Amino acid sequence: MIRFDILTLFPSMFSGPLTESILKRAQDAGLIELGLHNIRDYATDRHHITDDTPYGGGGGMLMKVEPIVAAVEAVRRPKSHVILLSPQGRLFNQSIAQELSTRGHLVLVCGRYEGVDERVRETVVDDEISIGDYVLTGGELAAMIVVDAVSRLVPGVLGARWGAEEDSHATGLLEHPHYTRPATFRGLPVPDILASGDHGAIATWRRHESIRRTWHRRPEMLLNVTLSQDEQWYLADLARETASTLRTHLNRSSSS
Ligand code: ADE
Repeated sequence: MIRFDILTLFPSMFSGPLTESILKRAQDAGLIELGLHNIRDYATDRHHITDDTPYGGGGGMLMKVEPIVAAVEAVRRPKSHVILLSPQGRLFNQSIAQELSTRGHLVLVCGRYEGVDERVRETVVDDEISIGDYVLTGGELAAMIVVDAVSRLVPGVLGARWGAEEDSHATGLLEHPHYTRPATFRGLPVPDILASGDHGAIATWRRHESIRRTWHRRPEMLLNVTLSQDEQWYLADLARETASTLRTHLNRSSSS
C-alpha cells in the first residue's frame, strides 16, 4: 500500500489520467491511495494569493512559500517523503521509481510559474525530481508520471501474471520485440522460433533481441548490465556487424 498526496494549484488536471484503467483498479482495491489538495486553500489572505513577484526583480512570478509549507505540513506524516517536481531535480528513471515504490507515503509538490520560493526547498522538501531535460508549464504532468511509474511497481497493481520484472529498464536492457496474432501481417511474419514451443530457445532469442535492441538504441546501458559468456559473445558479434556496416558506408561515401 502506498499513499500519494499531491499539492497543486490545478487538482482537476489529475482526474483523467489517474482515474482510469490500472490506476483506478489499484485505488478501488486499496493498493494505492491518492489525495489531491489545492495549495490555494492554504493561502490565508483574503484573496488566497499563491504567487508573488521575485525579490531582486526580473520577469515572471514565483509561488509563495507560506501556502506550500502550510499544505505540506497539513498532509505530511512522520515517515513521509516530500518531493518537489522541478526541472532542477534528479532525473527520474526506473531505479528511482523502484526506490520510491518502497515508501509508504509520498507528498508531491507541483510548482508553477517561474518556480517556487527557495525556502520551500529549505524547509519541507526531501527530494527534487525532474522527468526530463525540458521545461513544462508546471509540475502536474511530472507528478502524474511519477505516480504512474511508481504505482505499477506496487505488488498486486499489475496482477499476478503480469509482473514488472521484465520491463524495459528493469532488467537493465530494453525489451525484446513482442508479437500476437495474426501470424502474418502485410507480408511480415512472426519469427518462427516463437511458435516452436521450445521455451529454452525462445528465452535465448528474447534475451538476444533485448541485447540487440539495447546495442542499437541505448548502447550506454550495456555498461551497467551483467551478461553471461554466451551473451558477451553475442554482443561482440553485434559490434562486429556494426563496424562492418560502418566500413561499407564510409567506403561508399569516400568513393562517391
Ligand atoms: N516542472 C517543469 N518542468 C519540469 C520537469 N521537466 N520535470 C519535473 N517538473 C517540472
